[in-house]
Amino acid sequence: MLDADHALRRLPSLLAAAGYRPEFLAGRLGIRVPDDVGQINHAPMVERLRDDRTRAAALTRIFFLETDEPQARVFDEATRRALRSAGLLSQRAGRVRARLRLDPIGAHWLLADRRFRAPDSRALRLPPGDPVYPPSSDSILLRDVVVKRDRGTVLDLCTGSGVQALAVASASERVIAVDVSARAAALARLNAALNGIGNVEVRIGDLYRPVAGERFDTVIANPPFVPSPYRRGPAYHSGGPTGARVLRRIVGGLHEALQPDGRFFAVSHLAVRRGETVADVLRPWWRRFPGRALALVLESGSAVDLAAAQSLFALADGFTAYAAEVTRWVAYLRRHRVQDVVLLLLAAERGGRRGFDAITAFQRTLPLPLSHPPRHHVEQWLTG
Ligand SMILES: C[S@@+](CC[C@H](N)C(=O)[O-])C[C@H]1O[C@@H](n2cnc3c(N)ncnc32)[C@H](O)[C@@H]1O
Repeated sequence: MLDADHALRRLPSLLAAAGYRPEFLAGRLGIRVPDDVGQINHAPMVERLRDDRTRAAALTRIFFLETDEPQARVFDEATRRALRSAGLLSQRAGRVRARLRLDPIGAHWLLADRRFRAPDSRALRLPPGDPVYPPSSDSILLRDVVVKRDRGTVLDLCTGSGVQALAVASASERVIAVDVSARAAALARLNAALNGIGNVEVRIGDLYRPVAGERFDTVIANPPFVPSPYRRGPAYHSGGPTGARVLRRIVGGLHEALQPDGRFFAVSHLAVRRGETVADVLRPWWRRFPGRALALVLESGSAVDLAAAQSLFALADGFTAYAAEVTRWVAYLRRHRVQDVVLLLLAAERGGRRGFDAITAFQRTLPLPLSHPPRHHVEQWLTG
């Protein structure tokens, strides 16, 4: 009989053989990042794959779209039984469901709590706690900009599923991943093991506390950063009224955590008030930092745009619930005098010249501008 640990160890080779890869999701669902499938387009995505009988489609349905699947389509019977006893799958009336989602990200597979269902308290016998953040567009944005250093040491703060730690592991000597949540730490450890990665050590605690006195070549952080009215929401979510409550503390500790030529990479929202600029808010943070820093503004929108986007989850309870949610977010942001919210990438390097630059690059303004009306084309053609 296949034991549970063995079945988990074999899982990556089964996923790879079935072709459950980012390329499959991009090709079949037309998506770039996992959260391109959200509350609003979940049902059409399920329909797109409904008649696809390939193993990759069956795995996408249970691990990515989080729907049930007839048992005969998911692994062989021995593997299914072992993964049930491991706590990854549940089975009822001949149908299989995943207790966690499993995202293919680059060459890795990442387990995390589900996006479209409540967390499962029996998943892999993980410690209870806030849901663990599945890799999303912000995770992938950060993952793609981190400049890897050959044989360096890395600190991944706010590791969640461990997606950043795993991405730099093969180029690094050693990676320490820290999260305040015991559930996230357990999943990050499992994800390292699942992907055969042996040089990631996961520690539980508040930011730099578990690594006091240690210095790193690179520090990476994707902290909770949404300027959100939900102070008691999941640990991955709120960054306080400006979005920067945790990020500010991370920046404040960099001079102690970075090696003399160490580098820092982070992603975050930042709320700015009327009359303020991003540079006004961020420059003072770096005054005592012995090096230079860059803030790259990638998206910007008004408080109402943020409210509209962040309230989408409430659509599950209907339009009235959505409208109430938008009102709640806007009232919160107005109370805190938030005018605009930007999405930032931060990079910093210790040593060398000192300074701070804020650059608006590749900016997407929300809501997206409408395309020209067709009359414009006709007029152009007539006058051309
Ligand atoms: C947005 S998630 C990021 C997860 C992952 N790094 C990624 O890129 O997808 C933020 C994570 O920060 C953790 N966190 C929140 N406050 C923290 C703190 N004070 N110290 C360490 N981790 C913290 C949360 O538990 C959550 O896992």
